[in-house]
Amino acid sequence: MSTKHPILIARRVPPAVVARAEAEFDALVPDLDLSAEEALALVAAHGIQGILTGPRVRITAAHAAAFPPSLRVIANPTAGYDHMDVAATKAAGVVVTNAPDALTDCTADLAMMLLLNACRRASESAAIMRAGWRENFGFAANLGLKVSGRTLGIVGMGRIGRAMARRAQGFGMRVLYHNRRRLAPELEQGAEFVESLEALLPRAQVLSLHLPGGEAGTLMTRQAFAMLPPGGVFINTARGSLVDEDALIDALRSGHLFAAGLDVFRNEPAFDLRFNDLPNLFMTPHCASATVETRDAMGFCALDNIAAVLSGREALDPV
Ligand code: DGY
Repeated sequence: MSTKHPILIARRVPPAVVARAEAEFDALVPDLDLSAEEALALVAAHGIQGILTGPRVRITAAHAAAFPPSLRVIANPTAGYDHMDVAATKAAGVVVTNAPDALTDCTADLAMMLLLNACRRASESAAIMRAGWRENFGFAANLGLKVSGRTLGIVGMGRIGRAMARRAQGFGMRVLYHNRRRLAPELEQGAEFVESLEALLPRAQVLSLHLPGGEAGTLMTRQAFAMLPPGGVFINTARGSLVDEDALIDALRSGHLFAAGLDVFRNEPAFDLRFNDLPNLFMTPHCASATVETRDAMGFCALDNIAAVLSGREALDPV
């Protein structure tokens, strides 16, 4: 019989993560993105102690109340964990962890990519090429917005928000931010604190969200979009739940917003197909952390947390 701890890999992960899981644990690897019901049935059947979890494992309070007794830790390989009831899981005696830093740089890179693409109307330019570019590009046609010199408003100045600020400053942008608390000067790195979202919105020529979903609710309401300056640009790599998508679509259609760049949507992956009709929207499928290095690092972080808890140590990244 194996002396290794039995764990479940409840989502598809890269080969390097599977290899480590199999080397260090008695790992069950169905190579599927499991639902909560599927994952918990396997936990019960195999005496699983730790789960490397995924967004389809939507743990509710009802699941937590009936956790199999073997279960000790649920490790999110992601920064976000709004797909699970953390309080109920912890109340059931199961440790919850996340991967707070593994994806900082890649998420900020993608946010910057969305910003550049939205400001420079990359979708429309790319469409011209795909249609077999035959006419010279007009001197006054398809003009974008100059990025350097613009003011970026960041909502949520955690690790990713700060990484975004550094990138934007590198492109010559002025950075304002709103956060629950003002940062220490060495973390602000020249970004200007704005006390409230209401005060930030009218000043943000480009607005980028970098805060967790869940408790924040719908931050970008119709009223909030209306407060952005005309011709503003909206970027979201955080969570779709932060946004009233009807209001966003209306703001893009009316031209109140010049453009938007989105990596996240309210009902992923069944996103609102009306988005496809908006030429001034640049979209990616929630892939900000999707690089070889980062997906490995995220998986390894989850395994490190599982190893810590199952060997009786403190979790490295408890939430
Ligand atoms: C996260 O880590 O929360 C990212 O959105 C990837 O899912």
